[in-house]
Amino acid sequence: MRVVFLGAPGVGKGTQADRIAAQFQVAKISTGDLLREGVRNKTPLGLEAKSYMDQGKLVPDAVVIGLVRDKLSDPSCAKGFVLDGFPRTVPQAEELGAVLTSKHLALDRVVNFQVSRDDVIKRLSGRRSCPKCQATFHVDFAPPKQSGICDRCGESLVQRSDDRREAIETRLKVYEDQTAPLVRYYEQRQLLSQLNGSGTVDSVFQKVAQVLTPYRAT
Ligand code: AP5
Repeated sequence: MRVVFLGAPGVGKGTQADRIAAQFQVAKISTGDLLREGVRNKTPLGLEAKSYMDQGKLVPDAVVIGLVRDKLSDPSCAKGFVLDGFPRTVPQAEELGAVLTSKHLALDRVVNFQVSRDDVIKRLSGRRSCPKCQATFHVDFAPPKQSGICDRCGESLVQRSDDRREAIETRLKVYEDQTAPLVRYYEQRQLLSQLNGSGTVDSVFQKVAQVLTPYRAT
């Protein structure tokens, strides 16, 4: 199964990508997670990406395309993948298509998550993330068992630097300008499934799993 999760910041792509990857036994590729790992490890790529990310702007296409190209060649992707947060521009989508074609592969589905702007802002402002294992929580909607501590690895949770109000506004604007055109792009290629991402994490998961079940490897 090879799928893309599309949608504005905070619609729940990462939360659902984790669950789908576990349930369908495919790899999750999150460009946001890969870039944050680079920032944490102070790699040249991470240092270049940090200022864009903190401001809520997109990292240059060439940087993220290189990351994804490497990841798609990884044996962990042999059974398929969920791409979370990539592609985000038309050139990224075209490059993804070219990489897959060169491997005689194609996307099965693109799921576009839709949530109201008010809900997205509530979700992002209350998000807490684990800097070590990347698990995501929410102070009200998905609280950890022990306040401020990651359920998975015990690390202290943090608020992402781009989850401040100002950066959230920029990310939503960048999404409208640069990423929303991908909805039409994939619709024209008859790959798009629209999905209402409001409701509980469990209820959204049921809907996503239903959309993707036909593409599950046998
Ligand atoms: P990235 O990490 O991809 O951020 P994003 O797209 O802005 O998405 P988010 O992670 O904010 O939201 P999400 O939809 O995954 O929501 P989540 O599941 O966490 O990118 C960060 C930055 O990296 C970008 O700004 C850019 O600079 C750079 N970057 C990354 N990819 C790039 C690319 N391809 N090209 C260029 N630059 C790139 O959920 C949010 C919160 O809501 C959580 O607290 C969660 O617990 C909660 N929640 C989830 N589902 C529900 C629900 N159903 N009900 C209630 N709460 C919920």
